[in-house]
Amino acid sequence: MNCAGCNPTRRLRAWGGLAGGAALMALWLLWQLESAPGGAPAPQPTVTILIWHWPFTDRPPELPRDTCSRYGVASCLLSANRSLLASADAVVFHHRELQTLQSRLPLKQRPRGQPWVWASMESPSNTRGLHHFRGIFNWVLSYRRDSDIFVPYGRLEPYSGPTPPLPAKSKMAAWVVSNFQERQQRAKLYRQLAPHLRVDVFGRATGRPLCANCLLPTVARYRFYLSFENSQHRDYITEKFWRNALAAGAVPVVLGPPRATYEAFVPPDAFVHVDDFSSARELAVFLVSMNESRYQRFFAWRDRLRVRLLGDWRERFCTICARYPYLPRSQVYEDLESWFQA
Ligand SMILES: *[C@@H]1O[C@H](CO)[C@@H](O)[C@H](O)[C@H]1NC(C)=O
Ligand SMILES: *[C@@H]1O[C@H](CO)[C@@H](O)[C@H](O)[C@H]1NC(C)=O
Repeated sequence: MNCAGCNPTRRLRAWGGLAGGAALMALWLLWQLESAPGGAPAPQPTVTILIWHWPFTDRPPELPRDTCSRYGVASCLLSANRSLLASADAVVFHHRELQTLQSRLPLKQRPRGQPWVWASMESPSNTRGLHHFRGIFNWVLSYRRDSDIFVPYGRLEPYSGPTPPLPAKSKMAAWVVSNFQERQQRAKLYRQLAPHLRVDVFGRATGRPLCANCLLPTVARYRFYLSFENSQHRDYITEKFWRNALAAGAVPVVLGPPRATYEAFVPPDAFVHVDDFSSARELAVFLVSMNESRYQRFFAWRDRLRVRLLGDWRERFCTICARYPYLPRSQVYEDLESWFQA
């Protein structure tokens, strides 16, 4: 919003021609009301966000007008209707469909000055073709904390209800992996751990797939869950940590960004970081020989916090509206690839 008109001195000067001091007084009162914290907020103009291709599907979900208010974001309209290109306040492009050429950028039809958003939740290891997009996008939506629109895979939020009971534990360590490749760091670490630690492996890669609703109850019976990211990159912490471990009630053993990154999201004693050990064997000994009181300490956060999973693309896109007034208008990612690979 252009705020020249909401400068109080300007307003008063404009109205100065009105002789009556009473009128000025009334105006002053009005101003006080408008600007008072907690006063009725001025209605916000609706921000329209066009999603050029819905992530991972040719069929966007239903997007009723109140979609974003369900996530606590007001005056925000999400649409997948491409005829809004000329009028949308911002247009979002999800990388996967650009990478596979399922969707293309409407460069010739782009209205002057329309902000374009590059969106992706994948790591740089699974992102190709960014060099095609020099000087095109204005804002980035991703899990990186320095994104213009930062959307983590989950977070802890304050909680004041009774502490939920911890699931009963009968097994040691679980791992779910759908894409096992020996060259990946997580595969190497698993190979080193396996001789010293009983790890039950599930998932498509193992011939022991888990149905969608079975994962959490299965993992809940384990003391630990191997939250090994498929690749190790800045801020790249996924649902393998938030959902498969923390929400399921197992202690995450993490392979990913450095400990300090995890500590930006959760208390330092809520997880085991593989970097804290000089060998896989040492890590295994720590996990296996842990006594019950030490184990329970990993769950101390559950007395006052709970996991909020942020996996829904509608909620992620609504975040654009929440950030909209603060996003840098004239910014352009001249070299998106270098930024993302950094
Ligand atoms: C898309 O938007 C246009 C212009 O507002 C409208 O005429 C059209 O009916 C919309 N299409 C769908 C499928 O909603
Ligand atoms: C449990 O282990 C912790 C850490 O290794 C140790 O400090 C504590 O004394 C142990 N408690 C009992 C009851 O053995």
